[in-house]
Amino acid sequence: MRKVGILTGGGDAPGLNAVIRALVKTAYEMSGWEVLGIKDGFDGLLDSDGVIPLNLESVRGILPRGGTILGTANRGNPFARKVKRGGAEVIEDVSDDVLARIRALGLEALVVVGGDGTLRISLDLFRKGSPIVGVPKTIDNDMGGTDVSFGFDTALGIATEAIDRLHTTAEAHHRVMVLELMGRDAGFITLHAGMAGGADVILIPEIPFSLEKVARKVSERAAGGRNFSIVAVAEGAHATGGEQVYSRAGDEVYVPRLGGVGDIVGSYIAQACGVETRVTVLGHLQRGGSPTAFDRWLATRYGSAAMRLAANKGYGRMVSLQGTRIADVALSEALLQAKRVDLKGDALLTARALGVCLGD
Ligand code: F6P
Repeated sequence: MRKVGILTGGGDAPGLNAVIRALVKTAYEMSGWEVLGIKDGFDGLLDSDGVIPLNLESVRGILPRGGTILGTANRGNPFARKVKRGGAEVIEDVSDDVLARIRALGLEALVVVGGDGTLRISLDLFRKGSPIVGVPKTIDNDMGGTDVSFGFDTALGIATEAIDRLHTTAEAHHRVMVLELMGRDAGFITLHAGMAGGADVILIPEIPFSLEKVARKVSERAAGGRNFSIVAVAEGAHATGGEQVYSRAGDEVYVPRLGGVGDIVGSYIAQACGVETRVTVLGHLQRGGSPTAFDRWLATRYGSAAMRLAANKGYGRMVSLQGTRIADVALSEALLQAKRVDLKGDALLTARALGVCLGD
């Protein structure tokens, strides 16, 4: 039997289970392949109980389920892993152990489903000789080399529904509602949900904002008889000349945690405009739960294509969506540049044309 491994790394995204299911089913139909699931990202390769066989039975019924049956970890970098040595915690490079385990398991390919961070680790492992095949996953939609990553459409739907719900209560109470959304350094969730939900102000990381301009928009609406407003703000948005707002600093293992910009924007509006303002942080609701039909379909196409790529020894490559076609690109190319909202693109042009305040 030929062997392929699959792991899911980084923050979860709706559709991970659909990828796993599609890969296992494709491997089964190809015949002659055995699939091994690696638990909790790369951690599973360092743990004697971290590898499980995956068969048709293991993937039955998981297509509509959020999360990942394999578990995931967003601090599992084998090049910088926190380990205990003589009672003290130290950071060590254990990538050679990961490579040795891949060899010992007899994996002909290891399919890694992850975002920017996980796939960067994968590229380094590939450069050290691992037979890696990548699948792009992120609700933020910021992976280069692909038009869309699965998880984004689901997050967008949840964010839009949240704006719709805030709209009715904002209007009833004549309030300003600020909604802080995820996306790290990319504004796709906030811009697309903001437009889909009819937000009056949309603040994204790609466009530094002026609090005065935001307050002016709210006051102008009030003067025009619209005594409520909806402000969608990305967690990574920041004021001109200012910095992103963090709720927790980073270290050698964790990236800094964004959070708190919504409160800053909300407090300023309340004080400058003299209106009642409330702030909602949507947080991980954007990542949990069942994937949309689009994400299930995209994740299924990715999972199946990744298995075919693995069988063809397409190591160091990542499956991707280009237009409506599934293709593959070198991981090195996909990771060259993270995707960001195009400042001259149609989406922002449309927002401006509709009079939405982008804070600039
Ligand atoms: O990258 C996906 C994402 O959900 C970001 O939008 C967010 O900033 C981050 O992960 C939060 O990660 P966690 O809470 O898992 O550390």
